[in-house]
Amino acid sequence: MNNRNGKKVILKLDKLNKHYKDKKRDLHIIRDLDLEVTEGELVSILGKSGSGKSTLLNLIGLLDKPDTGRIYFDNVEVDNLKGTNIDQIRNEMLGFVFQFHYLLPEFTALENVMMPALAKDFNRKAEIEERAMKLLEEVELADRAHHKPNELSGGEKQRVAIARALINSPKILLADEPTGNLDEETSERIHDLFHRINKEMNQSIVVVTHSRELAKICHRRLYLKKGSLHQEEEI
Ligand SMILES: Nc1ncnc2c1ncn2[C@@H]1O[C@H](COP(=O)(O)OP(=O)(O)O)[C@@H](O)[C@H]1O
Ligand SMILES: [Mg+2]
Repeated sequence: MNNRNGKKVILKLDKLNKHYKDKKRDLHIIRDLDLEVTEGELVSILGKSGSGKSTLLNLIGLLDKPDTGRIYFDNVEVDNLKGTNIDQIRNEMLGFVFQFHYLLPEFTALENVMMPALAKDFNRKAEIEERAMKLLEEVELADRAHHKPNELSGGEKQRVAIARALINSPKILLADEPTGNLDEETSERIHDLFHRINKEMNQSIVVVTHSRELAKICHRRLYLKKGSLHQEEEI
């Protein structure tokens, strides 16, 4: 499926709704939200704290389910009701980078990067190792490959996490405030890295960020307000 400009649509959200309910209140966080992301697009999502950015990314990342609405990857609907293998789609279609790196402390950088691919195909260890090493080169950490997370700086850990998110060649890379914990200089380096991955690998990326620097280099800047996405110019 192509959009109006003839580009391939990688992700489509159609009228997503998500409520959080408890005894006292009903929070309607995501309201009839639509989004299309095309191949190779770098999209940033801005929004106030509590506006639902993480909720939205968790829905896209299939870590949570919408109350209503449809999600399509590559034109195929993720149908929660018909027993689609969500874990498999998540592992094979999606890469995740969070604010905290979530690397496994007892494994080296290289092993951490290999992990999602080994989970998929344990018999191709040598090939996976080669690919993981290339990704570590890509994030400029080849010389740290055999170090464990506690021997790496915050920025280095986050770069390992980015390499790990790319190991299964995801259709889309999702990042939720990936530089929220890092100092300015380190953040800038990570922003450059997202830019480079997008350009060199034609990697589609959706990134939630407060960083104006990162937002500036994106193809499209969206703003989450009152449960739906707006072009920044509309705000
Ligand atoms: N599991 C949950 N149960 C109830 N409320 C939640 C839950 N997760 C998030 N919320 C609420 O939903 C709103 C949006 O949260 P979140 O998506 O984390 O916002 P953001 O990432 O934009 O800061 C907040 O008001 C938050 O308190
Ligand atoms: Mg958040």
